[in-house]
Amino acid sequence: MSLKTGDTFPSLTLKILGDKGPEDVTTDSLLSGKKVVLFAVPGAFTPGCSNTHLPGFVMKADEIKARGVDSIICTAVNDAFVMGAWGKAQNADEIIMLADGLGELAKAAGLDQDLSAAGLGVRSQRYAMIINDRKIELVNVDAKGVDKTSAETLLAAL
Ligand code: BEZ
Repeated sequence: MSLKTGDTFPSLTLKILGDKGPEDVTTDSLLSGKKVVLFAVPGAFTPGCSNTHLPGFVMKADEIKARGVDSIICTAVNDAFVMGAWGKAQNADEIIMLADGLGELAKAAGLDQDLSAAGLGVRSQRYAMIINDRKIELVNVDAKGVDKTSAETLLAAL
């Protein structure tokens, strides 16, 4: 079953690329006492995620934060090196690039998908959440396109 409004976000240890390499980070430390917009994409550097989804959040980051959001997190089933390089390539300085390299978050959320046919293996579905102190206030999932999970849609929901 997938995460829904009212659920507590799963407690996991994932990775972020730091100055010296991948570093452990817990979802509890990222979310406790904070209002957070988190969005998940099927893959770093894939066309839809690189041309539309992440750039939308880069463009709207200040507006989103002006509505009381402490942080914006982008996650994908990619390693920390890839997520760090993708964030750098997209000037995503205001976005935390959270690496779910083993797909633990995608699976714990019940929002994984098998993209083996496209050569990608198990990845995350495209989803976006508003999370307040670890409690999920909104979950939107896009099977196609980015209408329900875009920065504009999340901004309108804040
Ligand atoms: C995309 O363009 O977002 C995409 C491409 C292939 C697999 C998954 C996502």
